[in-house]
Amino acid sequence: MIPRRLTLQNYRSFEDVDLDLSGIEAAAITGPNGAGKSCLAESVLYALYGEGRSSTVDGVVRLGERESSVKLEYLHDGATYSVSRKRSRGQKSELQYLMRGRDDDLWRALSGASIAETQAKIIKDLAMDGALFRHSSYVGQGDAAAFCESTPAERKSVLYGILEDRLAQFGLLHEASKQTVKALDEALAVAAATRERLHALIALRESTEAARSGVQEQLDLSRSKVAEAEAQTKTLRESLAQHDAELTRLAAARTEYAKLEGEGADLARQQDEWQTILDADQALLREAEVIRRDAEAADRLEAELKEFAERREILRLAQSGHGAAHIKSRAAQERYTLASDQARLRERVPCLQTELQVTCPLLAQANASHHELTSLDEQRTAAEQAETAALDAAERAEAAYDGGHHASAQADYETRVWARPELANLAGAEARAEGAKTALREVAKRREASERELGERRQECTDLELKTAGAEHLAESLRVAEALLEAARSEVEQCTRELAIYDERLRQVAEANVELEHIEQQVANQGRTRTIYATLQEAFSRDGIPALIIDATVPALEEIANEILAGLSDGRMSLKLTTQRLKVTGGLAETLDIIVADQVGERPYEDFSGGERLRVDLAVRIALGRLLAQRTGAPVELLVLDEVCAPLDEAGEDALIDCVMRLVEWFRCVLLITHRQSLRDRLPQQIVVEKDGGASTAVVVA
Ligand SMILES: Nc1ncnc2c1ncn2[C@@H]1O[C@H](COP(=O)(O)OP(=O)(O)OP(=O)(O)O)[C@@H](O)[C@H]1O
Ligand SMILES: [Mg+2]
Repeated sequence: MIPRRLTLQNYRSFEDVDLDLSGIEAAAITGPNGAGKSCLAESVLYALYGEGRSSTVDGVVRLGERESSVKLEYLHDGATYSVSRKRSRGQKSELQYLMRGRDDDLWRALSGASIAETQAKIIKDLAMDGALFRHSSYVGQGDAAAFCESTPAERKSVLYGILEDRLAQFGLLHEASKQTVKALDEALAVAAATRERLHALIALRESTEAARSGVQEQLDLSRSKVAEAEAQTKTLRESLAQHDAELTRLAAARTEYAKLEGEGADLARQQDEWQTILDADQALLREAEVIRRDAEAADRLEAELKEFAERREILRLAQSGHGAAHIKSRAAQERYTLASDQARLRERVPCLQTELQVTCPLLAQANASHHELTSLDEQRTAAEQAETAALDAAERAEAAYDGGHHASAQADYETRVWARPELANLAGAEARAEGAKTALREVAKRREASERELGERRQECTDLELKTAGAEHLAESLRVAEALLEAARSEVEQCTRELAIYDERLRQVAEANVELEHIEQQVANQGRTRTIYATLQEAFSRDGIPALIIDATVPALEEIANEILAGLSDGRMSLKLTTQRLKVTGGLAETLDIIVADQVGERPYEDFSGGERLRVDLAVRIALGRLLAQRTGAPVELLVLDEVCAPLDEAGEDALIDCVMRLVEWFRCVLLITHRQSLRDRLPQQIVVEKDGGASTAVVVA
């Protein structure tokens, strides 16, 4: 980076400055204290990186102004770049980044979407950030000893930054190795957990097998129990079925028995009936003479009694006025009445004997009465005859009736009348008795057969009752056997379930063994890989290959520094950079120590005088810039030395001027800031900075 134009507006003490730096190679920036020399040089750092002395972003804005801007045009890598940075007090900043090709008149915008993005592009194009710029190109006021007074680690870090393009890849590799180691550690941790889990699972094998064996035994036992219970229930069911059949037969036998009993009773009743008939007939036959005699007597007595009754009636009639005289009187009366009626009718119906009687109802009625009268006449005649006969009979009755005889005949009749129906019976008694005997024999035979059959049925029922007597017990036994069978089957199911669980576990154990083998293999591979990557991680760390590269760089740095130091000290001083030192605890520690020597001998940097230390500081700082300049892709073409002369004596100043003139070979633009007027004309070019009325000005003086 070679500055070509610097334009400041309200930047710190400057109001409006436009410096053409295109011809500047080795220049002194001069001016009194507070003129603005350091601000002018810092403006380059500010333009490129936004960095400066102020702790606030508004510190760059000139007091009393609202906005400041710095614009720097510079050559870099064959192209012209323009960086313009603006700051509005209390508001935002602006950064514009442009580029123009070697033969180009047009600026091309390189700015990103944000200030940070644009800044990143500038850093990338310059191949250095602000810190590296300050370490390599910008030796700020009072800052010359920054490197030498840093800790060894900080010095190494600066070297690391200078060599970043070469070391950056190791950073990436280190990070990649670190991530791989981390990933492998995580994978190994997972594998360890998996291994632990698998070992725990595998450890269950023996107990699982033992438990499985126990369950298998139990299963075999339960199965035999099932078989036994099944056989038992089968037998019991068959027995029960047989019992049921026998019970059916028993019911049938009982029904048959009851029927036979009924038949027997019926036969007994028939027998009794026939016996009764036989007994009655036999009794009848035994009484046959008596019956016949009494029956005849009854017949005779009945005729006598009839006769007695007639006589007595006659007698009664005679005794009650209703005797023959009465009958006679009643017949006469009746005859009179009828004759009267007839006469009355004949009077009333004169035409009775005429033809009219045929059509006249009244005449018909009269005629009927006439016929009735005729009939009555006939009846009267008959009655009179009967009357006569009756009178005769009454008279005889009265003469013949004897009450005592009548009563005695009645009594006799009643004692003998029973024989009359018996006599009727007697006629069929013998045949009936024979029939009854035959029937009795038949009934007796049938009864005998029935009794025999009844006995057989009874025996059958008894036998069947005996056989079926144990049915309830059998049913109970079946229930018990079925319960046992159920329990045994449950045991079988339970054992089968448990066996399935154990088998599953053993399968898992077998799988675990395979998986464990795989995991062990994997762990071994990952372990080997981890060892490789851990080694790589260490190798790619700053203390690894980068340290070796730095170590390899240190001699070159040492050589350049010694060349400059020899020039600044008239060959009296030299320095040594060491990268390792013995640790108190033993072994070597990485370091970057500066050992300075003069004619007296070697001693630590701190033990030298201020002027001597400044020579060492400048030598090392310039060597760092030179080293960076030699770096591929990061040419450092600017060197700013701000007030580095203060501790130097005259010889030292002379040596410094000589050194600056030589440095032009290495750096295309060297700016030496000094307030000393004596040094103003010692360099080929000057930039004079002055402050007038509160505003700084700067002019290039050829
Ligand atoms: N924002 C600002 N506005 C106004 N003046 C400022 C601002 N920032 C810094 N200054 C002043 O600008 C002046 C120039 O400072 P600078 O450090 O450049 O001086 P110098 O020329 O380097 O002096 P020296 O020889 O003492 O190093 C100082 O007085 C400083 O206080
Ligand atoms: Mg200054």
